[in-house]
Amino acid sequence: MLTVYESQTEQGTSWTVVSPIVFTYKVTETRHLLDPSNDTLLLGHITDPQQLEDVKKSNMPIKRFVVVDQEVYKIYAPKLIEYLEANNVLYKILSLPTTEENKTITMALQILEEVHNFSLDRRSEPIIAIGGGVCLDIVGLAASLYRRRTPYIRVPTTLLSYIDASVGAKTGVNFANCKNKLGAYVPPAAAFLDLSFLQTVPRRHISNGLAEMLKMALMKHRGLFELLETHGPMLLDTKFQADNSCLQAASQATRIAIGTMLEELAPNLWEDDLNRLVDFGHLVSPSLEMKVLPFLLHGEAVNIDMSYMVYVSKESGLLTENEKQRIISCMVGLELPVWHEACTMELIQKALQERLKHSGGLVRMPLPVGLGGAVISNDTSCEILHKAFVKWREELSDGSSDSN
Ligand SMILES: NC(=O)c1ccc[n+]([C@@H]2O[C@H](COP(=O)([O-])OP(=O)(O)OC[C@H]3O[C@@H](n4cnc5c(N)ncnc54)[C@H](O)[C@@H]3O)[C@@H](O)[C@H]2O)c1
Ligand SMILES: [Zn+2]
Repeated sequence: MLTVYESQTEQGTSWTVVSPIVFTYKVTETRHLLDPSNDTLLLGHITDPQQLEDVKKSNMPIKRFVVVDQEVYKIYAPKLIEYLEANNVLYKILSLPTTEENKTITMALQILEEVHNFSLDRRSEPIIAIGGGVCLDIVGLAASLYRRRTPYIRVPTTLLSYIDASVGAKTGVNFANCKNKLGAYVPPAAAFLDLSFLQTVPRRHISNGLAEMLKMALMKHRGLFELLETHGPMLLDTKFQADNSCLQAASQATRIAIGTMLEELAPNLWEDDLNRLVDFGHLVSPSLEMKVLPFLLHGEAVNIDMSYMVYVSKESGLLTENEKQRIISCMVGLELPVWHEACTMELIQKALQERLKHSGGLVRMPLPVGLGGAVISNDTSCEILHKAFVKWREELSDGSSDSN
């Protein structure tokens, strides 16, 4: 409900506008997204039954602008084109090298030029993004700029984007050598998730996504932790594909990961609350990731951060020795690095100081408590941080788990 308050001062009149903004968006897991008989990709974002019926009855062809990660396009182009042709869609496909290095405003502008030339109706013709987190983030930002906000649809094709980058509201590109410095909080009209894209994802990128899944498990869900502990290696081997042994574990793991992620994100879509469990693994890792770029993938850097924090938790009395070892073994089973020589005490201290600056003067350090619980600590002493570091290095720096 919009409210306008008028007040008079000596300088003149002043109006204060209070306008709560409501975002509604759907995250839908589906199968066979590119099967020509499945209309989810074209119509699944429409929530009003009357509008849906009108579109289905109309003789007007559907028009769609589609941006696809170049690597994904190499594999899925025939299926995608067949899908669009079979559904009589007027389309333009833009295939782009959406790599982390190209995640820039220049690429967002390149997309916008093409969108503009294609001339779409911003009310009824959402832009479709198909790819990993990089592609979804760039297209999301471009869409949020075009005519001030054009709806867009996310189709994640990596595990990381399936459970993380496609479920929240954030878009962005890198800027001034900093990750995601330009961006907007504009959720998609819908995200359509199809696990079958994962079958072509390189094994290392499946591990990468499992790190973000493990993050949610450690912070919020013991059942998900146990599932990853028991079935993680098999999920990695099968790439979440639905053969008999994998079907249940794969769908349970993704459902819990997305559900817990949304529980955390939805009440805090604009990240006003700085106490965020989803920040676990993200305090030290940004500095580490940028320092060794391109050697560690995002999830790998996150895992190294989480591994160190597990030792901090242990030293703080929040984890038993047995729980600590179970977590580290689970990480190793997911083929994630648990230590890195570039993650020095100096880097950790600098990263935590940086965190203080951007987080309202408190470090707000999420720490695991037992398996599947967490606290946000503001008073972990330097002594504990040091003791944890020494123990961490002593136990894990033998090189066997340092993949880079
Ligand atoms: N918006 C958010 O909330 C959010 C959350 C987490 C991460 N992110 C962003 O996501 C990005 C990382 O995403 P990512 O890990 O998906 O990386 P990515 O987009 O770089 O994809 C990883 C690699 O896999 C390839 N690929 C993608 N799908 C494939 C498929 N089905 N088959 C074969 N190859 C495929 C890509 O070409 C790329 O080489 C980062 O830039 C990060 O900032 C955003
Ligand atoms: Zn992350």
